[in-house]
Amino acid sequence: MDKLLVALDVDSGARAMELATALRGLVGGVKVGSRLFTSEGPALVRGLVEAGSRVFLDLKFHDIPNTVAQAVDAAVGTGAWMINVHASGGVPMMEAAARAGRDAAARLGRPAPLLIAVTVLTSMDQPTLHATGVDRPIIDHVVALARLAQAAGLQGVVASPQETAAIRQACGDGFAIVTPGIRGAAAGSRKDDQARTMGPAEAVRAGASFIVVGRPIIAAPEPRGAAEAIVRELNQTQ
Ligand code: C5P
Repeated sequence: MDKLLVALDVDSGARAMELATALRGLVGGVKVGSRLFTSEGPALVRGLVEAGSRVFLDLKFHDIPNTVAQAVDAAVGTGAWMINVHASGGVPMMEAAARAGRDAAARLGRPAPLLIAVTVLTSMDQPTLHATGVDRPIIDHVVALARLAQAAGLQGVVASPQETAAIRQACGDGFAIVTPGIRGAAAGSRKDDQARTMGPAEAVRAGASFIVVGRPIIAAPEPRGAAEAIVRELNQTQ
């Protein structure tokens, strides 16, 4: 099931490899975030790729265009399939990232990575956003940043389930929307720290191209069984 990405939010490379091995062939890819990457480094990403996993390298680059371009170049070198940056870094930064992704892939003879943008962190509420100088409603800011990402040549955005439909409407069918915050139905009833959630099939119906699921799979007694239940739910909606 290509649409299901599993967040490898674990503290060791060995456990990450074990989970990826257990889930290979069943899920569409695995997500390596800043904690695992900071402790295990690019060798882990290369190892996952060599073992046959598609890797979403979730490092949310946000810096001056030249630095982000170099980081994207290095990320492509690890074999990552999906890479992200912060849309609030602006169009020149995102354009530099897109160019670097294409150039690095061409140089290495690989397919270009999917480059996507984080719009507004889902941990931000209206007062927190306002304090950073942004006065418009969060959803308007999210959609505006998604449009900027698309204009800069990025292939998609990360968005909460509640934002998916508005982004899909603004950016059209070809734009990838990657949605975490998946709970309920086959993803189980434990919310953890996720506040605004949707079930797997519900999120896809709302327009998600990919869903990211962490704890409902990686903290389950049988991670593969938990992933299979989600895949069954997704297959029933196709
Ligand atoms: O365990 P859980 O399913 O909540 O994991 C969701 C994953 O998606 C985590 O890696 C989390 O950091 C990430 N994420 C998120 N909300 C965002 C962006 C990323 O939950 N807005």
